[in-house]
Amino acid sequence: MIVQKIDRRHMKKEEFEKAGELIRIGGLVAFPTETVYGLGANALDPQAAARIYTAKGRPSDNPLIIHIADLTDLERLAIEIPETAYQLAEHFWPGPLTMILKKSEIVPLETTGGLETVGIRMPSDPIAIMLIRASGRVIAAPSANSSGRPSTTKAEHVIEDLDGKIDMVLDGGASDIGLESTIVDLTGKIPLILRPGFITADELQETIGSVEYDKAVLNREKDMVVTAKAPGMKYKHYAPKANLIIYEGKLEDVVKAINIAAKQNEKQGIATGVLATDETVPGYTCGIVRSVGTRRDEITITAHLFDLLREFDVLGVKVILAESLELMEHGQAVMNRLLKAAGYQVVKV
Ligand code: TXA
Ligand code: MG
Repeated sequence: MIVQKIDRRHMKKEEFEKAGELIRIGGLVAFPTETVYGLGANALDPQAAARIYTAKGRPSDNPLIIHIADLTDLERLAIEIPETAYQLAEHFWPGPLTMILKKSEIVPLETTGGLETVGIRMPSDPIAIMLIRASGRVIAAPSANSSGRPSTTKAEHVIEDLDGKIDMVLDGGASDIGLESTIVDLTGKIPLILRPGFITADELQETIGSVEYDKAVLNREKDMVVTAKAPGMKYKHYAPKANLIIYEGKLEDVVKAINIAAKQNEKQGIATGVLATDETVPGYTCGIVRSVGTRRDEITITAHLFDLLREFDVLGVKVILAESLELMEHGQAVMNRLLKAAGYQVVKV
């Protein structure tokens, strides 16, 4: 795999020629976006799209998002576009918002996982835009991780997961936001949020009036109350190799409970990571303690969550005890990822 470093301060068109050509001939190129790294291929080439699934080990019924650089492509890829789509595009594009619309004929079912709808987003990262333009194509790109693993926010993560399976990665450093885009489905009567992201429900509401969460987003029925010893189980997404357990409650009680559990683990020789925040780090006395960011500046947390989960794996911890991250603005998006990564294992204190 070719690793091409891109210096954001001095980007040159020529640096994107090879990557653009690879996309045109059906290859796979990973690239940074403002949310996470994407694994790109020509979205209108069924074979290229199919290659994405193979490289990721992704089930073929899980649809891909198409990345565009020009608004005119929206009308090539989708039909029966509602007014709300234009309002959202005007407010949030380029940026971390994906819209689900009815697909046009040119979009192959291989790209949409067999669906008659299509996810479309215009990323704001200039490297992503330069790549799309250099390829002269629209680019299908899921997050550039092995299926089930935490999304990738650095080229190093992409290399970790996909080396030998893809043609190239454009290394543009760390993604700014660190969580995938907000997905809003505009094909029904009421716009539905299918995946919370950095753009919040309130922000969407301000632009288009009514918007609701899809039931599956809020569904925490799978929550389990577990002891720290319970093994990881069930379906996982965004999952580190370690068994991740979330502690929920008043923050000072959470710190106490994690300290007790970490101490017990250490006595038994179980290497334990503690996912803390800047505010709580001094309160921990046990385990390998790492701060994900400060609760006073939420983007520091979104930007480092996946990175930290991967770091714990590199450190070889077997268990990660995580503070619940019920943040003011981005709590919905962050907890959606953290709960899935934990297989919904929550200890209420
Ligand atoms: O921020 C992002 O969205 C990143 C960057 C690379 O753009 N991409 C990303 O892609 O997160 P991926 O494949 O990891 O997640 C896409 C999600 C999946 O959960 C998929 O099921 C959903 O979008 N999706 C895509 N097309 C859809 C459709 N037509 N209907 C419903 N869900 C769709
Ligand atoms: Mg993904």
